[in-house]
Amino acid sequence: MSDEVQISPAHLLDIESTPPSTLRHMLNLADSMRERPSDFEASCDGRLLVNLFYEPSTRTRVSFEIAALRLGLRVVNIAAADSSVKKGETLMDTFRTLQAMAPDVVVVRHPEDGALAPLAEVAAPGLHLVNAGDGARSHPTQALLDLVTLEQHAGPLDQLIVVVAGDLHHSRVTRSGAALLKTMGVGELRLCAPPGLEAGPKVSAGARCFDSLDEALVGADVVMMLRIQHERLAGMAIPDPESYHRQWGLTEARLALAAPDCLVMHPGPMNRGVEIASSVADGPRSLILDQVANGVFTRMAVIHTLLHGTA
Ligand code: NCD
Repeated sequence: MSDEVQISPAHLLDIESTPPSTLRHMLNLADSMRERPSDFEASCDGRLLVNLFYEPSTRTRVSFEIAALRLGLRVVNIAAADSSVKKGETLMDTFRTLQAMAPDVVVVRHPEDGALAPLAEVAAPGLHLVNAGDGARSHPTQALLDLVTLEQHAGPLDQLIVVVAGDLHHSRVTRSGAALLKTMGVGELRLCAPPGLEAGPKVSAGARCFDSLDEALVGADVVMMLRIQHERLAGMAIPDPESYHRQWGLTEARLALAAPDCLVMHPGPMNRGVEIASSVADGPRSLILDQVANGVFTRMAVIHTLLHGTA
């Protein structure tokens, strides 16, 4: 490993601003956490993690909480709906208030793009921020857990054709996932979206873009389906669920177009019968619950790396 690996990141804000060697360290550490979880029990004993969530979340919030508990941290959960946000407090004031109580890690999910950047500027030394999803911009731990899952179950990354399909335009999962897959050298990245929901030029750079899911699937080794981000559509018209499923849903018939062992992923929450058929989501090629399981190991690896560095 090069000297670069020794850099200890203060925060995990996004994939793009994190050195590739740090990302690789986190990916490898997540594998070790899965293989030898007892080695890491209590490795962060007594430290304090705050989950500060301004958007609904089940798996991500619980995943951070379980990851922290498995490492021996104590956890405080704050849902904005129950907090002083209701009384008009800004994110910055809420953050400064929490910071005065000296947590070690603050995990933030927020509906605004770039919401964590100003917090990082005022964060005290020793306080580590983790982005659990900001607007449509970034979701770095989802990208990491997806790659951990892919490397565990599919062949070497540089030989894989990976399709990401659905509402790419509003998807922070796509933005972070594409950045990580490109950084780590995916064989071929294919992006497929209905008209109006395509990824922007930065995400699409270096990828093959399709407007037909049937065409995108030919020969694919992995397909990740994404739901329509209804909360971010802002009045944009989309087909009704049945029509959407007919044209853009991953069905068993469509999956037959891909490589014989093509694996299926979805970050959740799923809309069954819309972007994915139940028989595919629950079928033998589905890695959806493996993603959830790896989410805990990956977040353990991220928290451990922020608290102990990459050495
Ligand atoms: C994603 C998110 O919140 O960005 N979900 C998740 O974190 N597992 C995807 C989504 O909401 O569709």
